[in-house]
Amino acid sequence: MDKNAACKRITDLRNIIEYHNKRYYQQDAPEISDAEYDRLMRELQELENVYPDDDLATSPTQRVGAAPLAKFVSVAHPSAMFSLANAFSPEEIIDFDSRIKRLAGVDKISYVAEPKIDGLAVNLIYENGIFPRGATRGDGVTGEDVTQNLKTISSLPLKMQIGGGKAIPSFIEIRGEVYIESEPFQKLNRRRIEEGEEPFANPRNAAAGSLRQLDPKITARRPLNIFLYGIGEAQGVNFSTHQEVLQSLKSWGFPVNNLIEEANSIQDCIKYFDHIGAIRKNLPYEIDGIVLKVNDLKLQETLGNVSRNPRWALACKFPATQETTVIKDIIVQVGRTGALTPVAIMQPVNVGGVVVSRATLHNEDEITKKDIRIGDTVVIQRAGDVIPEVVKVVTSKRTGAEKEFHIPHRCPECGSEIVRPEGEVARRCINLACPAQLKEHIRHFASRGGLDIEGLGEKVSSQLFDAGLIQDPSDLYFLTKEQLLKLDHHGDTSAPKLIESIGRAKNPPLDKFIFALGIRNIGEYIAKVLASQFGSLDNLMAASVEELTAINEIGPEIAQSILQFFHEPKNKAVMEKFSKAQVEPLKKVAATNALLQGKSFVFTGTLANMPRNTAKEIVESLGGSVHSSTTAKTTYVVAGSEPGSKLDKARSLGITILTENQFLRLIGR
Ligand code: IVH
Repeated sequence: MDKNAACKRITDLRNIIEYHNKRYYQQDAPEISDAEYDRLMRELQELENVYPDDDLATSPTQRVGAAPLAKFVSVAHPSAMFSLANAFSPEEIIDFDSRIKRLAGVDKISYVAEPKIDGLAVNLIYENGIFPRGATRGDGVTGEDVTQNLKTISSLPLKMQIGGGKAIPSFIEIRGEVYIESEPFQKLNRRRIEEGEEPFANPRNAAAGSLRQLDPKITARRPLNIFLYGIGEAQGVNFSTHQEVLQSLKSWGFPVNNLIEEANSIQDCIKYFDHIGAIRKNLPYEIDGIVLKVNDLKLQETLGNVSRNPRWALACKFPATQETTVIKDIIVQVGRTGALTPVAIMQPVNVGGVVVSRATLHNEDEITKKDIRIGDTVVIQRAGDVIPEVVKVVTSKRTGAEKEFHIPHRCPECGSEIVRPEGEVARRCINLACPAQLKEHIRHFASRGGLDIEGLGEKVSSQLFDAGLIQDPSDLYFLTKEQLLKLDHHGDTSAPKLIESIGRAKNPPLDKFIFALGIRNIGEYIAKVLASQFGSLDNLMAASVEELTAINEIGPEIAQSILQFFHEPKNKAVMEKFSKAQVEPLKKVAATNALLQGKSFVFTGTLANMPRNTAKEIVESLGGSVHSSTTAKTTYVVAGSEPGSKLDKARSLGITILTENQFLRLIGR
């Protein structure tokens, strides 16, 4: 490559990397794999080494990440947070060791080998053992103050413990990685899908998105975790080795990864790399490599840094779990909100132990950008080892027989018109009667996060829909046992059970009902906020934009969704059918005026008029509480038929005992 061509490539690479930095660091929406990003960075680094230019100081190679988002307060780290140089082969690991030995003038180095946790780096400050502030790494010099969110991580001590080790320092910066374990991550994504929200691409994005939530209450519902692996500035404490630092962190109560080991030669480090690589798939969290650190802190200081990377540490990355396969077809799925998602149907292939045959292509723009065609050979990966995605097309394998794909202009399910709302990447089917959407709607209504109707999963609701028995969730309440018995699936036992569980869902808690309606942008949390602010469905239905946006958590977009939903004639008709079927969500009474405020209940025996759960929900909706055992603090014991020992205990404690009828009168039924 001549100098002109190299300079042009340098400029292009800087722009490309800056773009991907923004996607990764600021938008939590990376478009390329880490391996691909690393390759771009390396290419730039190599070209800059040969052709350094005037803009080198502002090149992405000179900084750790992108500048922090403006929405959080920026804080300067007392000492800069550096990044790690990467190695991708055993040769590069050996080179690292040789370099250190040469620079240090020694022939034996002791290292500490650690798993490289795939999350996001944070800096925590502790003053006299107390945690006043923590921030994300940001650009390494300045990060975002996410103290409140960090405080929601239960494994993070807010106060350092006085352990068996060193005394508590007057000031210390402690560094670590915030992450989400694989299983809770999948649960979180399932919940998001239920709520009609986009799932996170991988646990790292989920952790980053959660830590950078402006509302710590939302963060608190995310299963964040933390491992601490180092320190920055420290006053009033001295360490001589990195092992000593880790031991002290442990003794002060910080979670430190238990796979960290001391390695006395680079061969041991390579063995550690292989070992961790082999057990990686069994770990409950994601790692993308290992980190080697020189154990002797004096030697670390002598070695210093080159650019933004310390010479004394190295990230040894695992090869990405990518595979090559062929796209046999591209189909289009229609979601609850009518959004069309193109999905690649692929030749089944084993990616890191899991056979995958489908990958989401997200939307049309993504297909155009990556130029994905039916028949293409593609590189796929399980992003964060979960959702398979197409990384790129292997264009050298093209034969000319590949077919371009275009999102259909008509809905593949109902043939209705498809629109692309302004500012959105997804196309939508706008037919409110689209069978695919309706089925999704019913499934959502009955799902666990919604009304939790037992026996009404995806299969049964789809069957009822296809048989023409239900069109929308309100029709469920008009189903008869006879109708159900006609369906093949229902034997004598399941039909009455299903009718029973639908019947039990007539007085759901208000927040569950609001969520179950499937209003766009209304997840479980916002549904709870709406229920407690408006108290009843009628109040919510009558709310104006001003009343809605006056609530902290509700912005104009959510307010619009609510208004639009209740103004839509089809939805109005559904709401009327709910009333006709006497579906009445329980009103949320403002806590202070609540009828049963401060009263505590214990139920014993079987109630004839409602299941215990419903009774509990009613009591709670009226401000009371329900407990499983009778104590001196119990206000009422409600005795159904065949009461147990709780009744005797109530008598002995002199607690008021109510019959079921007395209880019903008390709650106004
Ligand atoms: S040490 C100067 N140790 O990897 C050394 N980093 O660029 C700073 N990471 O920013 C990092 N596990 O987000 C270190 N055991 C570990 C790590 C680790 C994950 C992350 C961290 C850092 C990035 C490297």
